[in-house]
Amino acid sequence: MRLAVTADLHWGVHPGGDRATRALVQAVRDWSPDALALAGDVGEGEQFGACLRLFSGVEGARLVVPGNHDLWLRGPDTSSLDYYEQTLPAIAAQNGFHYLDLSPWVAPPGDLSILGSINWYDYSFADPALLAEFPDAEAMYRRKQFPGGWHSDGRFVRLGMSDQDFTGRVVERLAGQLAELPDRISRVILIQHHPPIRELFYPTPAQTADQRFWYAYTGNRRMDALVRTDPRVSWVVCGHVHAACSADLGRASGRNVGGDYAWKRLLLLDTDTGQEIWQEFGRSSVEPPGESRLRP
Ligand SMILES: [Fe+2]
Ligand SMILES: [Fe+2]
Repeated sequence: MRLAVTADLHWGVHPGGDRATRALVQAVRDWSPDALALAGDVGEGEQFGACLRLFSGVEGARLVVPGNHDLWLRGPDTSSLDYYEQTLPAIAAQNGFHYLDLSPWVAPPGDLSILGSINWYDYSFADPALLAEFPDAEAMYRRKQFPGGWHSDGRFVRLGMSDQDFTGRVVERLAGQLAELPDRISRVILIQHHPPIRELFYPTPAQTADQRFWYAYTGNRRMDALVRTDPRVSWVVCGHVHAACSADLGRASGRNVGGDYAWKRLLLLDTDTGQEIWQEFGRSSVEPPGESRLRP
C-alpha cells in the first residue's frame, strides 16, 4: 500500500507555512496514494475543517488524528473533551476524513489496518533529576509550567479531567481497538500526534531546563509499553515536536515527521517494500510571529 503521512500543518498560523502546505497538497495529489494520514495539529478552531478541505481532490482514503492545538478552545464554557470526541469527528466526516481516534481503518484487501490516536502526556517521562533542581516540579507539571514560561495547552485545553485520566482514556481506547482487530489483520500502522515511544521524542538530548521539562509533556509510558508489545505493529509515525527523528524497534520502524510552522515534511511510504520518500516544502523558521518557542 502507498501511504502518505504529514503532521503539524498548523493551517492559518504562518503565511509561509500555508504556502508550503498548498504545495504539499499538490504533491500528495500527484503521488495519488492509497491513503493519506494527517498526524495532528491540523488547524485550530475553524482552521481544522479549512485544512481538511484542502485535500478534497486527493483520491484514496483520507485519515486524520487531531493534535493538542486542535483541542485549543478560546471560549470560557467549552469542553475540549467534547470537541475531541464529538465536534472534530463530525468536521472530519463532513470533509471526507476518517477520524482514526474513534475507529481503525482497514486497507482493502484487508490484512493491514491503520490505527491512530492524539496520544497524550501524563508526566511519566519527566526527567527525575529535575526534582532536585525544582522541588515543586510536580506541581509545575500540573500547571503545565516551565522554569521560563508556560505550555499553552494549560490555557487553551480544557479536558475536565487530569492529564493522567485523559492519557488513560486514549491509551485504553487504542488498546481496545488493537484487541478487537480481526484475526486476518497481520500488520498495523500507528499514526499518533504526541510521540508514542520515547525514541521519537526528540532527535537530540535536552540541554536547557525548559527543554528537559518538555519530556513531561511529550508522551507517556503506558502508550510506549502498548506499542512495543504488539507484534503486529510495523510502522509508527507521529508529529508534535517539530523535529524529525527515527527509531528502529526491530520488527517496527518509527518516524517523527518533523517540520515546523513554516516548513512542512511529507512521507511517501510503500508499506510493502518499506521504501520511503521524503519531500519538504517551505523554509524552516524557529518560531512563528508572536508565538512562544515553548510551544511545539
Ligand atoms: Fe505542532
Ligand atoms: Fe502538537
